[in-house]
This record gives sequence, structure tokens and C-alpha cells, in this order.
Amino acid sequence: MSTPAFSCPFCRTRLKPGSDIVAVGKYRGQCPHCSNSVSFRAKSTSNGVQPLTSVTFRVNDTSYTVENASPSLTLNDWLKSQPSLKGTKHMCQEGGCGACVVALTRNDPITKKETTIAVNSCLFPILSANSCSFQTTEGIGNSSAGFHPIQARLAQHNGSQCGFCSPGMVMSMYSLLKNNSKPTKQEIEDQFDGNICRCTGYRGILDAMATFAADEHPIDVEDISACSENCNGCNQKCARNSLTTVKQILTPDGSTWFAPANVDDALSLLQTYRSSGIALVAGDTGKGVFKFEPSPPVRVSLMNIEALQTVSVGENSTGKYLTVGAAVTLSNLIDVLMENSQSGGKFDALAQHLLKIANFPVRNVGTWAGNIMLSHIHDDFPSDVLTIMQAAGASLNIVEGAEAKEYDIAEFLVTDMTSKMIVSLMIPAEDTDEKFAAYKIMPRYQNAHAYVNAGFSMKVTESGSKLSPSGMCFVYGGIAARTYRATSTEKYLIGKDLKQLDTLKGALTCLSFEIKPRSPPASSSADYRKSLAMSLFYKFYLSVVPGVSARLASASGSIDRPLSSGIETYSSDSSKYPLTQPMPKITATLQASGEAQYLNDIPSYPNEVHGAFILSTQANSTLVFLDTSAATAMPGVLRVVLPSDIPAENNWRPKDVVVSQYAEPLFVPVGSTVEFSGQALGMVVADTQAHANAAALAVKGTYKSLGPLVLTIKEAIQAGTLLNTSTPVISGDGDPMDALKSSKHQISGEIFCGPQYHFYMETQRALVVPVEDGYDVVSSTQYVDHCQRAIAQVLGITESSVNVSVKRIGGGYGGKINNAQQISCGAALAASVVKRPVRVLMDIDSNMRMLGCRPSYLSEYQIGFDDDGKLNAVIVSVSADCGFTANGDILFLYDVFFDNAYYCPHWKVISKAYKTHTPSNTACRSPGSVPSIFAMESIMEHVAKTLGKTPEEVRVINLYQKGQITPYGQQLPYCSISSLWTQLITSSDFQTRSAAIQTFNKENRWKKKGLSVVPLKFGVILSGAPFTCVISAYAGDGSVAISTGGIEMGQGLNTKIVQVAASTLGVDDISLIKIKPSYSLIGANNSTTGGSVGSELNCAAILSACQVLNDRMKAARAKLPATATWPQVVEQSYKMGINLTAEGWVDVTSRQPFSYCTYGVTCTEVELDVLTGEHELIRTDMLYDCGESMNPEIDVGQAQGAFAMGIGYWLTEHFVRDPTTGTLLTSNTWEYKPPSSKDIPADFRIAFLKDAPNPLGILRSKAVGEPPMCMSCSCLLALKHAIENARSEIQRDEHFSLNGPATVDVVQENCLVDPNQFSLYGSAPFARKTETTHLLPG
Ligand SMILES: Cc1cc2nc3c(=O)[nH]c(=O)nc-3n(C[C@H](O)[C@H](O)[C@H](O)COP(=O)(O)OP(=O)(O)OC[C@H]3O[C@@H](n4cnc5c(N)ncnc54)[C@H](O)[C@@H]3O)c2cc1C
Ligand code: FES
Ligand code: FES
Repeated sequence: MSTPAFSCPFCRTRLKPGSDIVAVGKYRGQCPHCSNSVSFRAKSTSNGVQPLTSVTFRVNDTSYTVENASPSLTLNDWLKSQPSLKGTKHMCQEGGCGACVVALTRNDPITKKETTIAVNSCLFPILSANSCSFQTTEGIGNSSAGFHPIQARLAQHNGSQCGFCSPGMVMSMYSLLKNNSKPTKQEIEDQFDGNICRCTGYRGILDAMATFAADEHPIDVEDISACSENCNGCNQKCARNSLTTVKQILTPDGSTWFAPANVDDALSLLQTYRSSGIALVAGDTGKGVFKFEPSPPVRVSLMNIEALQTVSVGENSTGKYLTVGAAVTLSNLIDVLMENSQSGGKFDALAQHLLKIANFPVRNVGTWAGNIMLSHIHDDFPSDVLTIMQAAGASLNIVEGAEAKEYDIAEFLVTDMTSKMIVSLMIPAEDTDEKFAAYKIMPRYQNAHAYVNAGFSMKVTESGSKLSPSGMCFVYGGIAARTYRATSTEKYLIGKDLKQLDTLKGALTCLSFEIKPRSPPASSSADYRKSLAMSLFYKFYLSVVPGVSARLASASGSIDRPLSSGIETYSSDSSKYPLTQPMPKITATLQASGEAQYLNDIPSYPNEVHGAFILSTQANSTLVFLDTSAATAMPGVLRVVLPSDIPAENNWRPKDVVVSQYAEPLFVPVGSTVEFSGQALGMVVADTQAHANAAALAVKGTYKSLGPLVLTIKEAIQAGTLLNTSTPVISGDGDPMDALKSSKHQISGEIFCGPQYHFYMETQRALVVPVEDGYDVVSSTQYVDHCQRAIAQVLGITESSVNVSVKRIGGGYGGKINNAQQISCGAALAASVVKRPVRVLMDIDSNMRMLGCRPSYLSEYQIGFDDDGKLNAVIVSVSADCGFTANGDILFLYDVFFDNAYYCPHWKVISKAYKTHTPSNTACRSPGSVPSIFAMESIMEHVAKTLGKTPEEVRVINLYQKGQITPYGQQLPYCSISSLWTQLITSSDFQTRSAAIQTFNKENRWKKKGLSVVPLKFGVILSGAPFTCVISAYAGDGSVAISTGGIEMGQGLNTKIVQVAASTLGVDDISLIKIKPSYSLIGANNSTTGGSVGSELNCAAILSACQVLNDRMKAARAKLPATATWPQVVEQSYKMGINLTAEGWVDVTSRQPFSYCTYGVTCTEVELDVLTGEHELIRTDMLYDCGESMNPEIDVGQAQGAFAMGIGYWLTEHFVRDPTTGTLLTSNTWEYKPPSSKDIPADFRIAFLKDAPNPLGILRSKAVGEPPMCMSCSCLLALKHAIENARSEIQRDEHFSLNGPATVDVVQENCLVDPNQFSLYGSAPFARKTETTHLLPG
């Protein structure tokens, strides 16, 4: 055996142990150079390290041993395969949504104390689970053992709507409380950076969790750790006592996982398997970012190597430094930095920056070394660790074989890392002279990668009046491959006086020369990133130089977000309870405990297989050939289902229905046209979903281009791909164009808003089981009837052979009205081919690429008005991107919402649907209305700017008055918008806050505030096809079962149905009433649940069924005393032979075109960082007319959720397509950013209009699921006002269109930031070119 040298981990001196020591396998002693105690294990052969195939871990009260587990099997895959552990959900499988969060308890490698952390089970390799102990939501509380306080409070505070995010929310909170029983509100709010909720708007969730704050209601940690509030104080000992053991043997898949206990073994494995493909693995979270990367056959986990999990402080000739082992997680690194930081120093800045990486669950297992290696492998990965550690002067200790070497980060980036391992990071200690700052500008407040990140380090010495810099290191990420160090600027500054304006200007000139951003396809523009680079430098510079004027100092800090808060104001009528009673959703606790069943929680059928769609990769082409050979050879693959397998029609759109006029192929056949990238070509059927997904990616199509791609609405207009034109909405006497011409003022312009993905947390899913009478289908559809029709049409069977049922869906927002049918048809076809149950679980990438979303719209307008801003003529031409077909009826809805809350005597609105090479677009929450109302509000802004008035002045004089007639000829008999406007202006303290904002804007050059008030009139259509329901009362105990045609998707439909049934029938105890799934038998021919009216219409149906029962029971009631209970009435009815099952039916006919209107007003205030485009929603006040709400608690949640979805639409969610293939590049949580819990208004106040029963609505209520979303443009418009204030600093406060989404880059670009505006003292010579010429150094 050789006696290799090794490096002292502290001072890196080369040491060579004597052969005698090596012979016994271990070297321990003092380093002769630095005197630190070192240990060295003698090289053991890699042959001595056995692959890990069997793991034993605990979940809740059970110990599991899993044998032959594959390295690619995640904890989540495994949990979902266990019938008793279905509570944990999954959506993105990228660490980006939090649906899969579970709690992991283990000994912290640094503190050695037992610690509980939140982890994403979707990323956690099962082979890393050895000796781990996990808790899942059903394990901490459930309906039989009693709910955990977190589950109960989440439900009580209305924090669970569709419920799909709830188990993850519960477990994030549980992990926090297990470690810290008395968290502050801030710690609680910070904990949810990795949990996305698309339904609630987060207020209910944050309120529920805030009740655990020490400063709120201090509680005893023992209460929290009890598994149940009703558990008689068993305090989880019951679980421990009843530990059972389960052994599971899986089929080996040929790949190998090693978990060596020391570095040498890992290194020798690297050598041994070098040629056959090997990779190190730490937290394995990298696959959340690069999920399509194939895994090598051999993987070596570093997480058992204690030596890599150490932290120490050392000293060498260059000074003190912190040494951090390579397997130290980002969370541990943050703690270590904070512990070693002197307040406000470099370590603190590093820690604060690291807190902006990913989210808690990712940081809890992801390591810093894994992070920088991702950057080494992928040069466009904007690693935050790399940027800030390079700026901090850190170096790396890297070993290969027996050789160890220290690398600075620049060297590391150009080093071939094959067979090498990073062992530790050395961060120079803080220095009092050192000024250090780190910045990260990202598309969302949290859990987002950087557009640009930067770390600046500089030493400053003051001598006399001169402030001199030295030891500079300015590093950027997101500019060049990996990082860019601005060395020219650093050199330029040497010897200069930082206090001189010329020094700043010269440095900026240098920086401008050297910063040349690359343009990764899905990132923000190169211009923006360059501007950011300059702005961040300016921020740093101002933070270093003393005496900067207060007005300019607003440049340096970022916007601090206070704790979120909310006020909900509503009234209810207790005499009508349970109707109008504010109560949580009836299944909310079951949702929180994971017991509520969604499609994928249905246990596997024997013989069940999985399907995955094969997607095209080239738009506008002919499919010449489809090569399935590689896929069919892959593990687990049974069959590739192709168009030739379709027995009847290759069209998944049910024929002859309004929203599906045009056929869409289930699979495109070879020889036919592929319209868009992502179009389905077939389906792979395999034993597991992972195998099916992998094989679907291995199918390769050959395409022949059919010409240039048309991917945007502008390109479509240019290419003339018009498909459809609406019947224009025209009103007023004579031609609106004449009215326009005769108006005192005329303006014209255009406004655009982009597409929006629904982002339901439960992706589209279907389960189809062949049965004797046809097929049993469970689908995540909002439209049972169309699902049934579509399957019958594709398979050529009768509709009565297709039995569809839906229990609940994890969010829909319109995206599962039509699109769900394609998934069900694919699964049904596959089931008919392989004659086995087939389950299809769409992954987020396929879901986003294959299916349409909210269309984008471009509105071109001409407006006539008088001196006051009173409208005289509105002429609008709207172009909508309908995707490759004009299915979906997207035009009508746009036209009839355009007037919003404003009267104008002359209107003309016409819409045109254009074809693009993208999926057929479809309804998305408030289809048509959200974009058209935004366009009208943007017009009001334009009118105001033209007249030099405030937008509020113009809005208020144009508001509809009672009795006026809309452009589509409908009179408004109950219009209350003016009254709402006045109320909100007062309740939001608009005037005072407006004045305060003006002062703030005067005092701050680089931070600006804006305030915007937006009114709403929203027409509600209670029409369309019918809804049916069946209600049965059971004679034995008086309990009641109901099935309706409505789909519960979070909106609280089933709860309202229970309330209506209980109050109509006189059932005192609502727990007697249970809601069953929707079935195609009971809800035959029913309409879709959508358009905000699903709850109202299904309540109307159940009302009619209850009235039938009441009529029948009259005779029974007459025989009983008036005090008889409901069960007694039922029993008596049964004895009298009364039919206790009744059918309900509702079929409302349309009224010209709206059944009634609802109204609202919203005021939003924002603060903007002009230099970066980052912004914060400071406060929103919403006043909404909800009629007499059937359940104000649920309706408030709907309003909050709708508004939050609008925030995403206007501020963070955007689409990018590859211009050459048409492939969607933003089809994952890494690039697509719905709002997170800190993107909502920090102060969010909602009030429902008092005493406002709706004479035209069902049970006096009004719809709420969609309308509040239409007022969310107040956020974008408030931001626009802040931008206008920034532009007024450079005398550019003229009209401009702020399109949606106004993402940070768009916002900053609209601020017209130019480094020439950067100054040091006083109020700056803005917009003036610098007169000094600066030469580049050298
Ligand atoms: C949802 C999400 C959001 C994220 N957001 C951000 C963000 O905002 N900013 C940011 O910078 N990053 C972000 N990341 C990346 C995240 O920081 C990394 O995934 C994580 O740090 C990687 O650590 P790991 O231990 O899981 O590495 P692994 O995934 O285990 O490994 C990653 C790579 O590093 C190699 N490797 C690991 N350890 C060593 C070693 N000691 N020596 C040599 N090679 C090694 C592996 O072979 C592999 O190639 C995000 C990730 C996710 C999933
Ligand atoms: S499924 Fe795990 S984070 Fe989304
Ligand atoms: S309740 Fe959170 S995603 Fe539906």
C-alpha cells in the first residue's frame, strides 16, 4: 500500500504520514505547521466499499426497510406508493412549490443536536434516508387520532381552499415549531418561502400560522408536539410505543449508489468508476434545476462523510478564516456565518444573501459545494454562492486521488473537475476596514434565481478629506458565463478619492465598457442586466461614501418588507344560519391532514400502468417520422400508443359544443402538421410514471419545417393569421367614429397583456379503468360531461359506457374545463389498448408545454373626451392570440367587459382572434374580463395624463349611474359603484396617503411610491347548460348524502351546498350532511363548474331538491310536534313511505347578456426601487359587493385568492418561447413565478359591502371567484404612478403604456435609468451627460 501525502485541512500544508501509521490505517496527530489536530484515514480500496441497496428509516410510527431501491427513487415516489401515506402531495418535483414538504428529524451534523427540518420529499433520494426519521401530515394528526393544532388552525383560518398545498404548509410549520417552540411572527412568515398556494392569496395561511407566534399566543412546546388536541395527552408516546416494521423489496434497476464514510473511499470510487460514469451527490437538489439531465450509473453520496460536515476557524499567514466542509448545507452555512459575524459585517451580508437562495427546504439539504458545482457544470447557472464567495475572497480545497490543492474561485472555474472532489471552503474572516455588500435581483420576492447578483468588497482608508479604496473585488453573476469580475473598474479606482463625483463617473464609464451581458434565452434582456450591474455598483458606492445626501441615500438600501397583516370586514345574519354563516370549508381539516383524497391518492389498482404524452419539439412543421425504438427499449415500457390505435375519431374536443368548435387531434399522426411545439404525438405506457416520462422524452420526431413561426400576437397580426372576428359591440347614436372626431380631445394608443398559466397545484391527471360496462374514469376535470363525451368520441363507444367521477380537484381556474379532456382521452385510449388501468399524472413541464392558457391581448384604442375627461367615444380593436385554433370563445368575453365601470355615449369594441403556433388558448380565471378591464383602466390613465389631471379625477366623473345603459344595451337598475367609490376613498384614507406619497417622492430620488384606485363593474352570467343533483336522507339516523354536478376545486362549493341544504331542510347538525363525488350518472349533461357561478348554480339546484323533499315531508312533519328534530322527521317520513331521495335541477336562461352586475373598488399603494425595478405592495384596500354572502369566510378567501392570482398576472408571470422551435422555455417553477407569500400586499384589507342583498342572485348572493381579480391591475397602475414619479425627475413624465406583466425588468426599463443620472451629493445633474472623459486603465 502506498503512503500518500495529504493536506492539513486548516493550513493546507502537505503532510506525509509514515508508513507505520498507514499500516494501521489511521493517522492522528498535530500538524507540524499550524499545530491543529488532524486525522487521516489510510487509503482503503474502493473494493472495500459496498454499494448501498437497502435503507431503513422511520415514517411516523413505522420503521421501513426498503431493499434494492433505485438511486433515482425519491422519498416522494416512495410515499405515494404506500397506501397509508398518501397525505403528502407532489406537483413540480423541482423543489419549487412545496407541495411535497415533510419534516425530517436527525442529528444536526454541526451542532450534534436533534433537529427537525423541512425537506422536499420530491428531491430527497430514498437512499439518503437511511436512519432518518420523517413525519408526514397524516402522522402528526388526523381524523381518528385528532387533528394537530397546525392542521386545525389552518382550517379554522380559511387557509385551505383546494387543499393541495395544505399538507406542505402544515409540515413547513411543524418543522419550524419542532425546533423553535416560540418563534416570532417574522420567523414564521419567513418559513413559507418555498410553499406556493395558488388559491388563498396566503392571508388565511399566514393568519393561521401567526397564531403560533410567541408574541401572539405563547404556547407550550409540548402542546405542539402532541399528535392531537384530543389525544388525552399521549404526547406521541403512543406512536413510539407502537413502532411497527415493514420490509419492502423492490426490483433493482442496475444503477449503483455508494455512501462511503470517508473522503478516501469516495475518491477511490471516483477513480474506479471514472470511465463507466460516476457522479458525486450531496443533497441531490441540483436535479430540481436540471431535471432532464441523465443520472450516471454510479452515484457516490457524500452525506455520510463526517469530515465534510465540519466547520472550524483557522489562521494562516494571510489571517483568520472560516473553513466549511463541502457537505455543509446552505442552512448550516447561514447559521455558522451568523454565529461568527460581527454585526453588519461581511459574514452577515453573506448570510443574508444565502437566505435568498431557493427556499428553506432546499437550503436545508442543498450544500454550498453542490451549488457551485452546478455552476461549474452549467455556465449559465446564476449561482449565488459562487458570486458572493468569490467577492468575499474565499478559496476552495479540492482533492484528487491523494493530491489536495487550494484554488481560488476563478481558478476553480477553469479546472477540470473529473475525479476531483471539493473538500472545503475557506472564507477570510471579517475585517473592520472591509466594506462588503451582496445583491440579488430576482423575478419574485423569494424563491427565485437571480437575474443579476453581485458581491462587492473594498477596503477604505480615510486620510484627510480623501477616501481611498484598496483590495477591491467586484463580482457579478448573470452577466457572463458563471461569474464576471470587474477588474478594469477595480484597477481604475486604485489611488482615486471615492468622495469625488469624477471618481464615481469614471468608475461607471469603466464598468460600462467591461460589462457585456450574455443573453440566455429565458432571462431578462441584456440591456436590463447591464443597467442593473451599473445600478448595483452605484448602490454599493453610495453605501461606502459618507455624507451622501439623504435624497440620494434612498439608492443604497433595498425595500424592507414589514410583517404581513390583513383585515377582513363583513357581516352576516345569524337568524339565517347556517346560511350566511362564516365557517371554514367542511373538509378543510381533512385537506390539512392529507386525508382528503385527490386523484393520485386513489390506491393503485392491481396491474395498473402509467401513461406519459410524447410531445413534439418543433412548431409549424410536418411530422416526417417518429422514432420510438429507444423508448420501447427502456426499462418498464409496455407499449407506445399512437394515432393508429385510435378506434374512432382523432379529436379530443367534444363536437358541436360552443367552446370546442374546432377539432384538435389527440395525437398528431406521422405525415400531418404539427402546429406547435408540445403538441401530443402519442403516449408511452410503462410500469411507473417515472419510466413513462423518461421514455416519452426518448421518442424522437423528425420534422420538416412549414415556414416561419408565428409565436406572438404582433407576429400574428403582421403575418395576417386572422381566424375569427367578433360581432362588434356598438352603442350610441350614429357612427362612434363621428363622435370621436367631434370630441374636444382625441388620443390613441395601444396596450398589451401577456398570457398566464393557471398553475393549479394538482397538475392535470386521469385514471381510467376498463370495467365490464366500459370505462371507469376519474379525472381532474371541471367538466364531467365533456370528459364523458370526449372519451366516447375518441373510443367510438356510447357515452353511457363512460363512467366519470370527480371527488375534488387541486385547483382549476378554468384550466381544467376543456384541457382536462385531452388527458382523460389519452388515458382512456391507452387503457383500451393495454386493457389495464392507466393513470396519467402530468409533470409540470408537459402540462405547460402541451396545454393552452390565458391568451395574450393587444388592444388598440382611439378615445374622444372633453376638458374634464368625460368620455365621449371609445373605439377599440382587440387582437387576441387564440393559439392554433379559435376554440374557447375568448372574444365575446373580452368585448362585453371592456366598459368596466364607465359610461360613455359611444362605444365600438371589436375583437379578432389570431392564430399562432402555440397550444389552443383557453379560459383562465376571469377570462376576457381581466385583460379588457385593465385596458380600459389604462385608457383612463392616458386620458388623465393628457389633461394633466389625476386618474382618480377622470375615473370618478365617468362612473356609471343607476339606470344608465351599457354598450351591450343592458340597463343597470342597481348600480352602486359611485357609492362604493366614495366609501373606499374615505376608508382607505386616500387623500392623506396621497399627500404623504407626494412628500416621500420629493424626498427620495431613487425610491418612489405610487397609489392607484380602480373601480369594477363585473357582469355575472347565470346561464348555460343545467346543473342537477341528488339528495338522499337515510332513515336510520337522518344523515344526508348529496351528489351534484358541481366540482369542488377550492371555491367552497360543497360547504355552501351543505349550508343551503341544512338551512332549507332544517338540519341542525351539519355534520350529518356528506357530499359525495360528482358522477356522470347524476350530473348527466351538466355544465362546467366555472365562471364564478358554479357555487350559486349548484346551490340553486340543491335548493330545488330540498324544496321537493320539504314538500314531500310536509305530511310527516304534520304528524310530529314542531320541536321534532330532523332525524325524527326523516324517520317519520320513512315510516309513511315517503321517497327520501330527490333530484334538483337548475337551468337559468341568459339575460342580455348578464344576469346581474357586481361592483367593487380597490386602492393599492406600492414602493419602487427605481434602480432595480424591485417593488413592494405596501397596502391594498378592497371594497367588494358580494351581495348577501352565503359564507363570508369562504368568499373573503376567494377575493384574496383572486387578487393574488392577479398580482402574478400583472407583476411576475411571463412566458418565453424559443424563437426557432416555438418550445416554451418557462415551463417549470425555475422560470415561471406565481406570487409567493411575500408578493401579496404587506397590508391587505378587504371589506364586503354592508346590507347589499342581491335581488337578482341566488339566495341574494353574488359571485366572487373572479371579479376581485379584475381589480388587481391596481397593483400595476400604482407601480406605473411610481414610475411616473421617477420619470418626472428627468422631465419625462409623459404618457407611456405599462404593459402586463410589469416584471422587475420591465419596470426598471420604464424608469429610464441612465448611469449619467447617478450622483453623489446634492440633487444631481440629472439627464446631463458627464463632461469628463475617462480613459480605461491600462
Ligand atoms: C427550487 C430551487 C431553487 C434554487 N434557487 C437557487 C437560487 O436562487 N440561487 C442559487 O444559487 N441556487 C439555487 N438553487 C440551487 C441550489 O442551491 C442547489 O441545488 C444546491 O445548493 C445544490 O446542492 P446539493 O448538495 O443538493 O448538490 P447536488 O445536487 O447533490 O449536486 C450538484 C452537483 O454538484 C456535484 N457535487 C456535489 N458535491 C460535490 C463536491 N463536494 N465535490 C465535487 N462535486 C460535488 C454533484 O456531483 C452534482 O454535479 C436552487 C435549487 C432549487 C431546487
Ligand atoms: S413537488 Fe416537491 S417542491 Fe414541488
Ligand atoms: S389551497 Fe393552496 S393551492 Fe389550493
